[in-house]
Amino acid sequence: MGLSTRDVLDIASLSGEDISLILETARRMKEIFRRPVKKVPTLRGKTVVSFFHEPSTRTRVSFDLAAKRLSADLVSLSASTSSMVKGETLVDTVRNIEQMVPDVIVIRHSSAGVPHMLARHVSVPVINAGDGMHAHPSQALLDMMTVLEKKGRIDGLRLAIIGDIARSRVARSDIEGFLKMGASVVLAAPPTMIPAGVESFGVDVTYDADKAVSGADVIMMLRIQKERAASFLFPSVREYALRYGLNAERLKLAKKDVAIMHPGPINRGVEIAPDVADGKHSIILDQVENGVAVRMALFYLVMGGQWNAGD
Ligand code: CP
Repeated sequence: MGLSTRDVLDIASLSGEDISLILETARRMKEIFRRPVKKVPTLRGKTVVSFFHEPSTRTRVSFDLAAKRLSADLVSLSASTSSMVKGETLVDTVRNIEQMVPDVIVIRHSSAGVPHMLARHVSVPVINAGDGMHAHPSQALLDMMTVLEKKGRIDGLRLAIIGDIARSRVARSDIEGFLKMGASVVLAAPPTMIPAGVESFGVDVTYDADKAVSGADVIMMLRIQKERAASFLFPSVREYALRYGLNAERLKLAKKDVAIMHPGPINRGVEIAPDVADGKHSIILDQVENGVAVRMALFYLVMGGQWNAGD
């Protein structure tokens, strides 16, 4: 069985079967990097080009490590060190890269829709590593993998997402993914951070973080995005932290076995208190570890990898 799509552009274009296949493949990939030699020859002779137009730590390092652990050749490019600074367009840049025969292109861009546009111009698979406020499919996949690992299921769980939902590509992809896999979702944020058209998302919405925390099996805290001009969306950081931040007091309202997630990077003391981020309910670093496994699975599957029944 293989993926039903050539590209991985968003969660909406993956079927439930695709998601299950990716998560199962990632589970097997994780076994590889628990070995003393964390490398297999599976993608020897294949070439990955990774093109990041926005800063990244987790996504970039994990895509790079995923390629290396599968023995693919990797070329990593940033906008600031490419000829785009001389005026070359993105499409021309990627067409030139395509001429050098890569097997997959990974792209992060600050503008929504860029990976989709590129996918229409090139003949190799494109993986979206985050585009503007639109989608971050590999993040949602690693989030689902982490929840599945910790809770044993996704179906029937209650996920609370708290923070700047409107400007979050992670929230958008997680909402689509968790709903597709049978979870229910509640969003909590100030009215300025709730996206237009939320009524059509199939989620519950509240302005009260306490309500969202009570009854949730998993709480996903979102970063206040200073680079996307969040400061005018609430009166002060202190007030935001009091009303929406996850601290030890608010956590007392949650289920005893609640799992706490954050896609990173964290603003400690703003959306999440340090003792909660580092506490016993936190699975934030598990998310990071699973990012490598999910990206190994994506490379393997978009390059034609299949699992046979009984593997
Ligand atoms: N979660 C995430 O996308 O982190 P980076 O921006 O560091 O890649």
